[in-house]
Amino acid sequence: MALTEPEHGHFREKVLSNSLQLTRRLRRLRRSPEIRNLIRETRLTPEMLVYPLFVCPGSGVRREIPSMPGIFQISVDEVVKEVNETAKEGIRAILLFGQPANKDEDGSSAIDAAAPVQSAIRMIKQQVPNILVITDVCLCQYTSHGHCGIVNNEEILNDPTVAQLARVAVSHAEAGADVVAPSDMMDGRVLAIRSALDEAGFQDIAIMSYAAKYCSAYYGPFRDAVDSTPTFGDRRTHQMDPANLEEALREVALDLEEGADMVMVKPALHYLDVITRVKDEFGYPTVAYHVSGEYAMLKAAAQNGWLDETRAMMECLTAIKRAGADIIITYYARQAARLLTKSRNS
Ligand code: PBG
Ligand code: ZN
Repeated sequence: MALTEPEHGHFREKVLSNSLQLTRRLRRLRRSPEIRNLIRETRLTPEMLVYPLFVCPGSGVRREIPSMPGIFQISVDEVVKEVNETAKEGIRAILLFGQPANKDEDGSSAIDAAAPVQSAIRMIKQQVPNILVITDVCLCQYTSHGHCGIVNNEEILNDPTVAQLARVAVSHAEAGADVVAPSDMMDGRVLAIRSALDEAGFQDIAIMSYAAKYCSAYYGPFRDAVDSTPTFGDRRTHQMDPANLEEALREVALDLEEGADMVMVKPALHYLDVITRVKDEFGYPTVAYHVSGEYAMLKAAAQNGWLDETRAMMECLTAIKRAGADIIITYYARQAARLLTKSRNS
């Protein structure tokens, strides 16, 4: 048997010989819900979950996103109700995505104070107490070509994009956002956003940077939701190659140097090793984004009766936390929070 071979450590051999005599029975600590609960190493709480919301133009709109069952595009007038319900379920933070009424080459509607996301921020801040408003800062929902930046000859230009992103961040802060979350992966954007926020008097607005954001197939349903699929090319020149881990640490190091307060790894489940390294090496609040495709996979399997959705959901979220995430952004936030609150009270 492998474990008794001499190259294995003394301790493991001893454990093995003990367990052969059955003095050491690990099943003792699995016998009842009470004892399992007592020794559980990883616990999820509703407070660590962030719920994403899609704000769209119009009024009275509550449109379910076909590839994301249970998730809706909501117009500004419906947002307060939705956020109130979310808060009632124990969620303390939301991540807002906006869709503009019109798109252009440079994504200029992203800085419109009257656009859906800025209006939604103002209404939530006025009407819903004690909920943290985080806003996604990018241009891809706002550009006619669907790219995250300003484009020339099919090339995504770094520095002009960064300048525009800084203006977007300030416009979210002016509307009342508590935290801005740049998701573009341009170089130098955290520093530019930090400087612009400080200059505008928003020293206390935090930056949650999408630091290690991979070029992933799992964003598909999200792009349907906000109509941001690029009309040409892809996002490989700015988002990371899924093959790279050391590079993710360089991304995180740079974002922290530039002033990021929290750092994100995205997607989550295929990148648990990245989450672990980021948490271990930097020790900053580490965020994992369980993305649209990860949500859609579970939903699809559940709808077919192929998986127990609740158990699969909790297993995913627990794994993300166990890997080292302090904060999880997930479309399952409300469903998970309801479950966690129920089991706490029962
Ligand atoms: C915008 C952005 C994306 C996501 C968050 N912010 C999409 C993308 O980069 O194409 C993905 C979220 C998800 O899939 O749930 N840059
Ligand atoms: Zn983008």
